[in-house]
Amino acid sequence: MKTVTKAVFPVAGMGSRFLPATKASPKEMMPIVDKPLIQYAVEEAVAAGIRDMVFITGRNKRAIEDHFDKAYEVEAELTARGKNELLELIQNIIPKSVNCVYIRQPEALGLGHAVLCAQPAVNDEVFAVILADDLIDGTPPVLRQMTEVFERHQSPMVAVQQIPREQSLQYGIVKTEPVTIGLDRVMGIVEKPRPEAAPSNLAVVGRYILTPRIFHHLAQAKPGAGSEIQLTDAIASLLAEDRVLAYTFKGTRYDCGSKLGYLQATVAYGLKHPEVGKGFERFLKSL
Ligand code: UTP
Repeated sequence: MKTVTKAVFPVAGMGSRFLPATKASPKEMMPIVDKPLIQYAVEEAVAAGIRDMVFITGRNKRAIEDHFDKAYEVEAELTARGKNELLELIQNIIPKSVNCVYIRQPEALGLGHAVLCAQPAVNDEVFAVILADDLIDGTPPVLRQMTEVFERHQSPMVAVQQIPREQSLQYGIVKTEPVTIGLDRVMGIVEKPRPEAAPSNLAVVGRYILTPRIFHHLAQAKPGAGSEIQLTDAIASLLAEDRVLAYTFKGTRYDCGSKLGYLQATVAYGLKHPEVGKGFERFLKSL
């Protein structure tokens, strides 16, 4: 029986919807209250029992490597000032058992190309893909929900969510047949269809469990929607030889790659934050 032991984080995108904030620093380092998006994503992988993290980075992404690395100067400064709680906080950003690998995507040729860049680190293993800008608040965390389903069904899987049909141009959309409650079989998948051409209103969101066979299909994929190498197209081609599942996750998703989604996440996470939640609620009510 196969289990998921590796997670790939494609973080090499342009983040153009967040310019100028993303001109010199990565979108994945934008904080929701006090933690950057990429840290929420890594914590979700850790909660799913994953220890090997593979980051696909690009220009201006050094801050991500630094975030998960030891910060000697900051640690020395905090020690000198006796700020032990903060010291502990930054020393334990990820568990010591976690192993981080960074691979550079030389050009932002698309999400599919970014995932293909992970092949040397993933080899022959089943792996998860997490898009950090899709922040999902779920109990248990969504990737954990998916690895549990994977352990039972042993098939590649995409997380899906119902969307208003008029938003289909922003997503990969699946055509499905039911398997059990919350789980469907993908019969077709298409990237960014126009609403009238969309096969359903079930959209793929930023969580995947993939088998290494996907690399074969990615290597053959031609540029698709937006002239990018699309992961969706490789999954469409995988359908001819393997069963792919669509999992309707339990949780609330915030599209933090968009300004509105980012603000919604900030409000939702701010309200439940143990330190500032109550004060933030009073402030919102006073507005
Ligand atoms: P997005 O579609 O959100 O693209 O990519 P983006 O470039 O980051 O943002 P916008 O649309 O310009 O505002 C989805 C995910 O795929 C990664 C992104 O970092 C993001 O996590 N990605 C995208 C890559 O790693 N490489 C690419 O070539 C494209």
